[in-house]
Amino acid sequence: MTDLTLDPAERMGRDELANLQRERLRRTLARAYERVPHYRRAFDAAGIHPADLRELSDLARFPFLVKTDLRDNYPFGLFAEPRENLLRLHASSGTTGKPIVVGYTRADLDMWAEVVARSLRLAGARPGELLHNAYGYGLFTGGLGIHSGAERLGLTVVPVSGGMTERQVQLITDFRPDLITVTPSYMLAILDEFRKGGIDPRQCSLKVGIFGAEPWTNAMRAEIEDAFRMDAVDIYGLSEVIGPGVSMESVETKDGLHVWEDHFYPEIIDPETGAVLPDGELGELVFTSLTKEAFPVIRYRTRDLTRLLPGTARPGMRRMEKVTGRSDDMIILRGVNVFPTQIEEALLACEWCGGHFLIELTREGRLDEMTILAEARPGSWDPEASDRHAEKLATTIKGTIGITARVAIQPPGTLERSGGKARRVLDRRPRV
Ligand code: DLL
Repeated sequence: MTDLTLDPAERMGRDELANLQRERLRRTLARAYERVPHYRRAFDAAGIHPADLRELSDLARFPFLVKTDLRDNYPFGLFAEPRENLLRLHASSGTTGKPIVVGYTRADLDMWAEVVARSLRLAGARPGELLHNAYGYGLFTGGLGIHSGAERLGLTVVPVSGGMTERQVQLITDFRPDLITVTPSYMLAILDEFRKGGIDPRQCSLKVGIFGAEPWTNAMRAEIEDAFRMDAVDIYGLSEVIGPGVSMESVETKDGLHVWEDHFYPEIIDPETGAVLPDGELGELVFTSLTKEAFPVIRYRTRDLTRLLPGTARPGMRRMEKVTGRSDDMIILRGVNVFPTQIEEALLACEWCGGHFLIELTREGRLDEMTILAEARPGSWDPEASDRHAEKLATTIKGTIGITARVAIQPPGTLERSGGKARRVLDRRPRV
């Protein structure tokens, strides 16, 4: 049965979608070449011209855009529209140096609201419902991006933003929202606050949580779903491509995130060679925008690792698997590659752990050491048993991930909480 509440693109088959993508891609390449000196230089240097694109697969011949290109063109050098045609700027701070600045025309903001509205609907949201939006408002794209999409869908939005956890709990209790949008790590902080206040989280009104902006595992999904008796789904996005709403998981299938391919064209590449990999293979996600005016991106290397799979809930749109992590977050410990998500999974398999953790890296002599500081669940803090639990987990980690890590169990509430994205790794190794 055709669902007429969906956008036409959500109902397209693969061939129709591919035709649309090819047309939009041609236009985007030509526009970027004409209007942005960086793309003209990069295409010329690679000996390629927008007119050389005949099939979608020809995109592989075009050069990548990388984060340093964004920094080198700070603040407005990659814009394809004069500054006065922009309605909004956002920026993401990153860990070092200058921020990445992105801009939006009216049409861009409109498209963004549309893809976020679609995303919220795929998460099960329906017009008239109440949404508690605890993503940060400001330069970060999370708060305002979700906000406009929620209004577009016809939800009542509570623009709480991040932080002030006690107030979050009070508003959830008093306003009785149906949905919450927040980072998964901050949802755990909200959970702590429920328990601290003696309020049963399973009795709260929330039906669906829409979590993203950082990697999180299916183990974390189970933890949150059980604690709040709600559905937890994944939303993905990045400022350079638009913000939240690049891809979204369905609440019905919970099987990875459908990419809104009529606006964002995904490729998976081998991060070492840059070669495009076939669907199904794990590699680095690369995006090309198909409709953006102010800040077109062509083959932007996200550093996020995932694979592309066929669509399910929206059969025409491919899915991306839950992101394992960013290649920059990968820890190489004595030659073994480890992602914080692997540690999260191992921790959440332990009855005593509630999901707050921090990985500390140090160097003893010439050898790198990893210490996992893991907080006990409130009510599970047992100093007598903690050495035994820690040792058992260290053995499991050695057996499954293949690394030797020290586990130090901490009392509940002792690790630092962030109101947004969690910091998972503290690198104390001396810089060489
Ligand atoms: O985090 C946009 C966003 C806001 C997405 C709210 C979802 C919800 P940035 O601050 O530019 O934008 O960070 C983008 O965050 O490249 C990923 O590494 C990571 N990330 C975002 N969503 C997910 C997710 C926003 N669902 C960077 N799973 C991306 C894993 C994610 N990582």
